[in-house]
Amino acid sequence: MDTRIAEWNDRFAKATPHELLEFFTSEFGDRLCLSSSMGAEDQVLTDMLVKINSSIRIFTLDTGRLFPETLNLIHDTCQRYKTVIEVFFPDYRQVQKMVKEKGINLFYKSIENRKLCCQLRKLEPLKRALHGMQAWITGIRKDQTLNRFNTNVIEWDETYQLIKINPLNSWSEKMVWDYIRKYQVPYNELHDKGFPSIGCQPCTRAINPGEDTRAGRWWWEDQGHKECGLHIKGT
Ligand code: ADX
Ligand code: SF4
Repeated sequence: MDTRIAEWNDRFAKATPHELLEFFTSEFGDRLCLSSSMGAEDQVLTDMLVKINSSIRIFTLDTGRLFPETLNLIHDTCQRYKTVIEVFFPDYRQVQKMVKEKGINLFYKSIENRKLCCQLRKLEPLKRALHGMQAWITGIRKDQTLNRFNTNVIEWDETYQLIKINPLNSWSEKMVWDYIRKYQVPYNELHDKGFPSIGCQPCTRAINPGEDTRAGRWWWEDQGHKECGLHIKGT
């Protein structure tokens, strides 16, 4: 646990995401990184971060099951900002073993299978991506899920033993999209086709008008299970 966290949360209670990023980029430098899913929030953070300090690490986890639109967005974002987004892949031996034993679409069969797939395709690469870092930035917002409602802007991440910074925590979805339009930030074209929240292709569907914005994620599971483990506290 880092004792500065409570003090920072007080000090930055009214700070803008931009002010937070300015402070933390100078505080942590090359020991700070942005974990980007290439979603709308992360694209906002990429835009802000590159303009503040273009050498801060940005990485994404390519699970091997992403939408082609997401892969194209990685390319377009690198071009637009003249930057490199590091792409982390799962350990092919673990994935091969899993697929051999349980099938390529194992996740539909049980929650255990789904968690195993997320563990191998997301969590293990995330651990590698975060190695050596002091703090990571994420695009989570408190109004995305019930689990995220108690999220603070700055937190201690028990799982990875790092400081976790959520600069857009108190932003609404509208604020995210206002920013994207104002600064013409590149975004995933699936957002215009009914996908407000985008993960892996087999585990994400478009939503119907009036549905919850995360209804399309792991749509076959109960509401309570809809997290892949990246942001579960104390796991
Ligand atoms: S998830 O846990 O349901 O998959 P979500 O899609 O809401 O997460 O994204 C929340 C945050 O987790 C993102 O803003 C990003 O910081 C991180 N994240 C999620 N997926 C990825 C990914 N594939 N690569 C890197 N970071 C990711
Ligand atoms: Fe596997 Fe689906 Fe998790 Fe992606 S979201 S890692 S395909 S279970």
